[in-house]
Amino acid sequence: MTNNRDLKTDISIDAKQQNAGAETIPLQHGNHDAALNASNVVTAMRKSRRVWIAGLPLCLFFYIVFYCNSAILDSLSINTSPLDSVIVAGGGGFRKLLEEKARLAEKRHSNGTQRRLPQCIIIGVRKCGTRALLEFLNLHPRIQAADQEIHFFDNNTKYHLGLDWYMNSMPSSRPDQVTLEKTPKYFVSHVAPSRIWRMNNSVKLVVLLRHPTTRVISDYTQIYYNKLGKNETLEEFEKLVLDPYTGEINTHYKAVQVSVYHQHLSRWFNIFSKDQVHIVDGDNLVTDPVSEIKKVEKFLGLDHRITYDSVYFNQTRGFYCYRVNRTMERCLGASKGRKHPDIDPVVVKKLNKFFKPHNERLFRMISRQFSWS
Ligand code: A3P
Repeated sequence: MTNNRDLKTDISIDAKQQNAGAETIPLQHGNHDAALNASNVVTAMRKSRRVWIAGLPLCLFFYIVFYCNSAILDSLSINTSPLDSVIVAGGGGFRKLLEEKARLAEKRHSNGTQRRLPQCIIIGVRKCGTRALLEFLNLHPRIQAADQEIHFFDNNTKYHLGLDWYMNSMPSSRPDQVTLEKTPKYFVSHVAPSRIWRMNNSVKLVVLLRHPTTRVISDYTQIYYNKLGKNETLEEFEKLVLDPYTGEINTHYKAVQVSVYHQHLSRWFNIFSKDQVHIVDGDNLVTDPVSEIKKVEKFLGLDHRITYDSVYFNQTRGFYCYRVNRTMERCLGASKGRKHPDIDPVVVKKLNKFFKPHNERLFRMISRQFSWS
């Protein structure tokens, strides 16, 4: 039986014999045409071999010249694209913004993009609109946001994977883009502030705050639905939020603790300067997202690119949604903006009374008032 190796050897021997035969065919009648054809084929083959031998190094030469040229331009950070000069404002601005964003995305990996540690982190607060803010900001051509919550600084196992692991969890971005991450758990973590400071002591931090009582109810609603999804049940809100013995607010209930904003924020202000922390009004983000986004753009030193062309109010959802491109619009998932359960007004009143002195401490700390004062 002929194996593959034998077959290959046989074929090459046949080919050699054919070539040798073609060269030695005598120029006689009858064989004349065949001999001429064979000798033409051989000449053509020789010529094409010569073209290959001469052409290949030439191609190689041009390839090296071209490659070196672009590498030098990259290393000098010479932006050969005219994108920087695109001005986006007013009518038609959003189309230009999308085109710019798309072109920047195309340039990934070919124009000096790389994974970088975030220059800005949305540190919380949970249920205050962190996802909406991240998605809106990610429309900006100079922002690249990580899709997932990374939980690097609050989770010991992840933290011990090291900064390289963290960096590799970031999206690729150009040097002129801001890399953005959001993990709302950082806000309540006791270890996150110092760990973030050690990563970059000039990092910019964004905190969203919302009416503390509404946040507690929103937190409860999320956990209620999470449990429902696992066929589990959750006690009534009123039972969780009130101490069964005193009838007062249960300060051990996690959702209540999270809404005592000043206690958590003070840990951050012990480490970071106040001008490194920008506070977003989460209630205003729902009704007027562009005005809140503008303030974040300013805080990050970016041009105002996200306009009322970028977002639109979706009547069905009852929230602002955003335009991903000219044909695609997107709203946040169903877990955002759920209907809250009806809560006993007496309990709501108790919560508001409980939070009042805490809110006042917060306002003094940040030298700013909110509608829920
Ligand atoms: P509710 O679900 O209680 O209404 P987070 O993303 O931090 O978990 O916050 C969720 C909250 O974001 C939602 O709370 C919702 O009120 C708020 N939010 C703000 N802007 C939104 C938007 N455009 N679409 C959906 N939810 C938005």
